[in-house]
Order: sequence, then C-alpha cells, then structure tokens
Amino acid sequence: MSKTEAKESATDKKNLNEFEQHYFNSYDHYGIHEEMLQDTVRTLSYRNAIVQNKDLFKDKVVLDVGCGTGILSMFAAKNGAKHVIGVDMSSIIEMAREIVELNGFSDKITLLRGKLEDVELPFPKVDIIISEWMGYFLLYESMLDTVLYARDRYLVEGGLIFPDKCSIHMAGIEDADYKDQKLNYWQNVYGFDYSPFIPLVKKEPLVDTVEHTAVNTTRQKLIEFDLNTISVKDLAFSCKFQLDAKNQDFINGLICWFDIEFPAPKGKKPVTFSTGAHAPYTHWKQTVFYLEDDLECEAGDVLEGTLTCAPNQRNNRDLDVKISYHFKASGVDANERSRKNENTYLMH
Ligand SMILES: C[S@@+](CC[C@H](N)C(=O)[O-])C[C@H]1O[C@@H](n2cnc3c(N)ncnc32)[C@H](O)[C@@H]1O
Repeated sequence: MSKTEAKESATDKKNLNEFEQHYFNSYDHYGIHEEMLQDTVRTLSYRNAIVQNKDLFKDKVVLDVGCGTGILSMFAAKNGAKHVIGVDMSSIIEMAREIVELNGFSDKITLLRGKLEDVELPFPKVDIIISEWMGYFLLYESMLDTVLYARDRYLVEGGLIFPDKCSIHMAGIEDADYKDQKLNYWQNVYGFDYSPFIPLVKKEPLVDTVEHTAVNTTRQKLIEFDLNTISVKDLAFSCKFQLDAKNQDFINGLICWFDIEFPAPKGKKPVTFSTGAHAPYTHWKQTVFYLEDDLECEAGDVLEGTLTCAPNQRNNRDLDVKISYHFKASGVDANERSRKNENTYLMH
C-alpha cells in the first residue's frame, strides 16, 4: 500500500528488530485504522477534548505522536492550532498525506514518516502533544514510552499532553460457562486429547466484552498515571487489590479496564471516558484474567492480592502480568472455600 520508499522514512524498517517490524506492519493496513476511527467513544472524546479547549490550542504548535490517518492532527488544525506535526512509522501516513491535502490542511499540518525517536521536527519545541497510544489493558504495545520520550524531548515547560491522566481498574466476574468452554474444549478435539494446550490458554488474558451483570465484586482502581510526571520505569509496577464479593456466586476471573482523562482549565469538567464493562463499547473491550480456582463466594467474602505488571524481556511490547491472590471466605465452611494461589500471564 505504501507509496513511500524506505529511504523517505527517517527510520529504515530493515534496522528494526522483528517485533518492531511486526508492530509497525500491523498499522500499515487501513482496517485497524477503520476500527479505531469507528470507535466513537475514543475518537469523539479526542475531538471533544480539543473542541472544548479551543482556547488552549489557539496558535499553538502541536505534535501528534503516532498520527495514523491524521484524524487527531486535523482536529487540532481545525480548532486553532498554528501548526501540527504528525509523525508515524507505518505506511498509513501516506494515506494521511492524501487526506490532509484533500481536506485543505496541507499548509497547517506537516507529516513526517519514521519513528518519533528518529525524526527531526521542524520546530525545536511544541506546546501540546496529542496521542492515542493506549493498548489493551492500557499498557500493551508500550507506545506510552514514545509519548514520554516526546514529552521529555520536545514539550515546552508547562506544555499540555492530551490525554494526560489514566488509570487501570479491576473487578471480579462470574464467567463459568465461557471459561469452561475456553479451557475444556482442548480435552477432546475430534476425539483426541489436546490438553497440553490448556496451560497455554490459561496464561493468555482474554480481550473481550464482558456483560456488566457478570461483575460480582466491588471494583478497585489499581493504579493511576499522570503523564506530566511519570517516567518509563513507572510502567512496571506492582499493586495490591481488595475486592469484596457482592453475593453468593462464583468468581471465575478478574476483569481489568482503563479510564482516560484529558486536561481542562481550572473549574472546567475534563473530558473523560471509560473502557469498563459498565461503560459504552470501545474497541479495547475489557481484559479478562481467568483464575486458577473458581472461587465459591458469599456476600462479603474478600479477595485480596497483588497484581504485578512489567514489559516482557524478550519483546517489550508484550506484558508479563502476575496475579497472586488470597480468597478469604467467612462462615462455617470458610476453610473449605478459602484459596491462595498465583497465576502468571503473558499478553502478546
Ligand atoms: C493507536 S494508533 C493511533 C492512530 C491515530 N492517531 C488515531 O487516533 O486514529 C497508533 C499509531 O502510532 C504509530 N506509532 C507507534 N509508535 C510509534 C513511534 N515510536 N513512532 C512513530 N509512530 C508510532 C503506529 O504506527 C500507529 O499508526
């Protein structure tokens, strides 16, 4: 699809490792961009955040980190930015060039192909960074590293990042049928024992939509990130959780989702959106971590534990997640129902 030769990119794809090549190739095709554009919660949140902050964008130099089809660049240019620089490594940027020209923004938007870390911007500093960098479970893809790099290298003192706050949340779910289907399928595949697949399936978090009625515990914010102040090392973290069972049921897994917040002037309500099961659909859906045990719970029983998350050593765009838990049942059968365990997962 690309009309650009490798030499026109600030980064020569051949010099990237296989994981990086695969990552950027995945954004070459328009299909993934169509899915993102059609996610109206996502795309309209960015537009609303820019439109509601027109005063902040007026006459400002804006950097769009990972501009894709150029949608955020055009929102910024249309709403008063003096100049927007859109950067993307994937060949989709060639379509962005056509679209930006077609819509009359060629004089306001400069598009640069290459890794943000390698391109040379036409401005030494920018006033605002916009970026849609979020992956499944917020951090999958590790694109936030690039936004933090852009902040440290290019953002003026006191500059703004859209969005600038995000948080990861967790709750327990009843999902026995689907869990059983996912795991036990491998017990008998056309009459053959395929059970060696079961440990692999258990290790893989599931990205899917979860009915909010499946949530059967209290929910908890695990961690919050302020993009103005965090550094890459903060993206490897460990946090404790405590979830209280709401009724007599089974807790088969944990779901995680993230919330996003954009800057707003003092006294103004910020634009926010959530990717939780209680909120409208987004293409990020929710991330399900099935537990080793199916926890038989009564209202008030406590599931406490620790979630540890870090980029995978081999491919830092993948995530290693460890969840250790202690389910503390109460009542006469407390000992029989209580459980302690630890699960490790790889998001890839
Ligand atoms: C999630 S998409 C968002 C696209 C677009 N901003 C939108 O909102 O529709 C992220 C884009 O960032 C690009 N990207 C990721 N890391 C990058 C990097 N280090 N340098 C340049 N582009 C990058 C990807 O190629 C991809 O097109």
